[in-house]
Amino acid sequence: MKLPRVALITGASSGIGKETAIALLQHGVNVAGTSRKIASLQPLSILAEDFPGDFLALQADVRSSAAMQDAVNQLLERFGQLDFLIANAGIGHTGGLMEASESDIQQLLQTNIDGVIHSVRAAVPAMRQNIDGGHIMIVSSVVAPMTLPYSALYAASKAAVSSLARSLYHELKEDRIHVSDFLLGRTETNFIANRLGQARSQQARMLPAMSAETVGRTILGLLEKKPRSFVARPFDRLLLMVNRILPDFVARRALRHYGGKN
Ligand SMILES: NC(=O)c1ccc[n+]([C@@H]2O[C@H](COP(=O)([O-])OP(=O)(O)OC[C@H]3O[C@@H](n4cnc5c(N)ncnc54)[C@H](OP(=O)(O)O)[C@@H]3O)[C@@H](O)[C@H]2O)c1
Repeated sequence: MKLPRVALITGASSGIGKETAIALLQHGVNVAGTSRKIASLQPLSILAEDFPGDFLALQADVRSSAAMQDAVNQLLERFGQLDFLIANAGIGHTGGLMEASESDIQQLLQTNIDGVIHSVRAAVPAMRQNIDGGHIMIVSSVVAPMTLPYSALYAASKAAVSSLARSLYHELKEDRIHVSDFLLGRTETNFIANRLGQARSQQARMLPAMSAETVGRTILGLLEKKPRSFVARPFDRLLLMVNRILPDFVARRALRHYGGKN
């Protein structure tokens, strides 16, 4: 398989970003990975010593456009080019809009929306220098098109970046930069533990989860396939189909699941 040579992964310190970095590094891709704390990338830096790809740990908060520009500059200094951006850094939120704190709302929107915008705007000028352009993958969620009371802020943030991906695909086509929208389903990571807001219920009936390793390997496979939009699991495709046909049914399930209503 022919692979892009250099990747930038935002949020590489844990979960999907970390496992994607491992999958790419094992296949000889050079990877720069970001986190808000450089120390959080130390375990990945140690693991990477045994892989064919080189790893560059970068401290960068996606909420800052200057930090993302600096991250890309450091990547270019080390690897000379940028072929692949995985805009993965993100956080969740649970609870009603009216109960959410202003700081949680800001952190959610600045991370999940502004963070993707800053990452893309920092990466595109470097990709424009490549003869064969590049590939930007936006890690969105299956919840993006869904009606999800009490998870509305998170779903809306993912809907925003999925929308961005669809339009950017056309804007960047003439630069040979491909944009894909990854509608990801539930995955076993620290995502739930790190989620902002206050769960209204125990939310015991969780949807089945994929492993982050599986998602990392899936993303590696998508590097060459370059879909415009991708849903990894048949279960999630079914979920999206039910949502299209019976949106109120999905909303009622969400009310029960997230809102603690029986
Ligand atoms: N897990 C799921 O079920 C699921 C489902 C659909 C979509 N997703 C999406 O998948 C992506 C990855 O989530 P995950 O499940 O791997 O969760 P995770 O284990 O909590 O990882 C989140 C990553 O994002 C980074 N991050 C958070 N805020 C950041 C900021 N302001 N600047 C830079 N990095 C930041 C974290 O790094 P530091 O804390 O070290 O800064 C961490 O590396 C997210 O966009 C999420 O919305 C997850």
